[in-house]
Amino acid sequence: MASEPVNVSEFEALAKKALPKMYFDFYAGGAEDEYTLKDNEEAYQRITIRPRVLVDVSRIDTSTSILGYPISSPIMVAPSALHQLANPEGELATARASAASNTIMILSFSSSYNVEEVAASCDAVRFFQLYVYRGRHIAANLVERAERSGYKAIVLTVDCPRLGRREADIRNRMIVPKLKNVEGFVSNDVDAGGGSNLEAYANSTFDPTLSWKDVAWLKSITSLPILLKGILTHEDALKAVEVGAAGVIVSNHGARGKIPVIVDGGVRRGTDVFKALALGAQAVLVGRPIIYGLAAKGEQGVKQVIQMLKDEFELTMALAGCTSLKDITRSHVRTDRDRF
Ligand code: FNR
Repeated sequence: MASEPVNVSEFEALAKKALPKMYFDFYAGGAEDEYTLKDNEEAYQRITIRPRVLVDVSRIDTSTSILGYPISSPIMVAPSALHQLANPEGELATARASAASNTIMILSFSSSYNVEEVAASCDAVRFFQLYVYRGRHIAANLVERAERSGYKAIVLTVDCPRLGRREADIRNRMIVPKLKNVEGFVSNDVDAGGGSNLEAYANSTFDPTLSWKDVAWLKSITSLPILLKGILTHEDALKAVEVGAAGVIVSNHGARGKIPVIVDGGVRRGTDVFKALALGAQAVLVGRPIIYGLAAKGEQGVKQVIQMLKDEFELTMALAGCTSLKDITRSHVRTDRDRF
């Protein structure tokens, strides 16, 4: 029997073995030369921790809350598309594992199970991620159904007016098969022209006119708080506050503001979680590792990935002399911008 994975990266290797190359590359790949993909992970390695010693760390509390909802640690599940390509149970398994881990899953708009099915899979606090298609009616319909099914926030992804060029998908002629849910991915309706149907699909369906004023439109159709995902600059974070966003999700850059900041991209270790919090994040999202856990071992694999990150985070807190999240401060890390 193959040995048990002891860290999140080893789940990636297991997922690679478990999945057809085309699907693994879809999950693992990034845009163009993939510099940012590599740097998302490497950026954490350039930040060092400044631990404090001789602190009583016999009790460590990793818990926190997001928008008032308690979670067992600041590690949340990022919205990612098409979990059914990784495991037949798809988002239902991810939802159950997230609930068992006492954390919040953000369900992707491009989920392979629909909002009601995921809501019925288990009792938990969940958020719903939204892409806005041309015409807006699909988005409006899904927001209304998500609210009715008990989702607690809408996460509007704002960095995707068009899909980045994922060259692995083009090379592999990645075609998304017909899955159960036709709402977030009507792939078979798109003529792939002999290439990957992803790019053709996204570019013919995503609404490229979406702009800041549409946050008001979204607010007019839902009473749920709205988080903006994909903010990368201080300028846009301030605009998010102005238009009344309840929070922002930054890709790989810590920031401080009047509303919660959640960070994602490249989180692979508990030390990364600690560093993100020290730089001002309230929580992190984890994307690919969740899918790798799902591909390798289904629901159990997702639980293990979350648990590993949480255990590593708890150990980092102990070694850094922090017993609760409020103890983690900017002075607990050094970045290449700091002189000391
Ligand atoms: C994503 N991401 C994403 N984001 C979103 O808002 N809606 C979506 O449907 C998807 N789908 C998706 C699919 C796949 C395969 C990946 C890898 C990513 C982005 C995701 O929410 C998150 O920002 C990143 O995955 C975080 O980076 P890491 O943890 O994967 O490095």
